[in-house]
Amino acid sequence: MSLNHPITDWKGRTVWVLGASTGIGAALGRALDEKGAHLIASGRHLNTLESAFPNPRVKKVVLDITDPQGVARALDGLTRDGCLPDCVIWVAGDYSPQPITAPRGFDPVRARQVLETNLVCIYDGLAAILSHWLPLSPRAPAAPPFHICLFSSVAGYRGLPKALAYSASKAGLNALAETAHVELKPLGVDVSIVCPGFVKTRLTDGNDFEMPALITAEQAARFTFKGLARGEFEVHYPKRFSLFMKLLGLLPAAIYLRLIAKVRA
Ligand SMILES: NC(=O)c1ccc[n+]([C@@H]2O[C@H](COP(=O)([O-])OP(=O)(O)OC[C@H]3O[C@@H](n4cnc5c(N)ncnc54)[C@H](OP(=O)(O)O)[C@@H]3O)[C@@H](O)[C@H]2O)c1
Repeated sequence: MSLNHPITDWKGRTVWVLGASTGIGAALGRALDEKGAHLIASGRHLNTLESAFPNPRVKKVVLDITDPQGVARALDGLTRDGCLPDCVIWVAGDYSPQPITAPRGFDPVRARQVLETNLVCIYDGLAAILSHWLPLSPRAPAAPPFHICLFSSVAGYRGLPKALAYSASKAGLNALAETAHVELKPLGVDVSIVCPGFVKTRLTDGNDFEMPALITAEQAARFTFKGLARGEFEVHYPKRFSLFMKLLGLLPAAIYLRLIAKVRA
């Protein structure tokens, strides 16, 4: 029994990808355009959106997701233009390695930025999206239900070294997605969460360690569509790495912390 309505046909759907200018979001956007979706692509810079999607068929909306009114304003504009999305894929995220290093410790301002981009601002965005969707829910039986897909990470399963704010932000996002799924499903809105392992993008280019089971953004996009087509609530990949991370997630803290300390040493 799937937790969400399987999305097997993207033709004719209006899909808003937040964070579409590079990396996984750009790969998802290109595939969605090929699959016949009406794509709305967002990022902070028009030039990067234009180079990712030169085709004028793709609607570009410039916005900074950390602007508390950004998503609300963009949605008002999209509604006026008659293209309210029925699916939102929230890919945008921020990361840089953040160890607690001696002698001065870590930068709390940077930690706040990561939490703001990966978690806090999603509340503003979600509130704005729901204010447009809930009055129209549930949709007519012929129309696909509204769907919000949030990009998290396997780094949210446990606290990882060098991911001081990142792990916390994605753990929070996983919890937010579960709460939202439980409460929104009866109202006609599907919620899914995507937890990739390592994907080669500009986000991971700064990592100075070997990234196991590294995949490309195009592979990540394919795995994402596969999970959504199965109606999964949590889409995680590549399985050879994400299942291992899930196993770590099940360990009692006394075992996990000893194990991870050895990896770090
Ligand atoms: N790469 C990985 O190994 C990996 C693993 C697990 C999870 N993830 C998650 O997957 C998602 C995508 O990551 P990626 O690797 O594809 O990174 P990426 O190439 O850096 O892409 C991030 C996207 O988010 C947009 N963005 C960032 N901050 C934004 C803001 N404040 N407002 C609007 N747009 C913003 C960026 O556009 P502009 O900079 O042009 O605004 C860009 O389009 C993130 O949520 C990340 O945490 C990635």
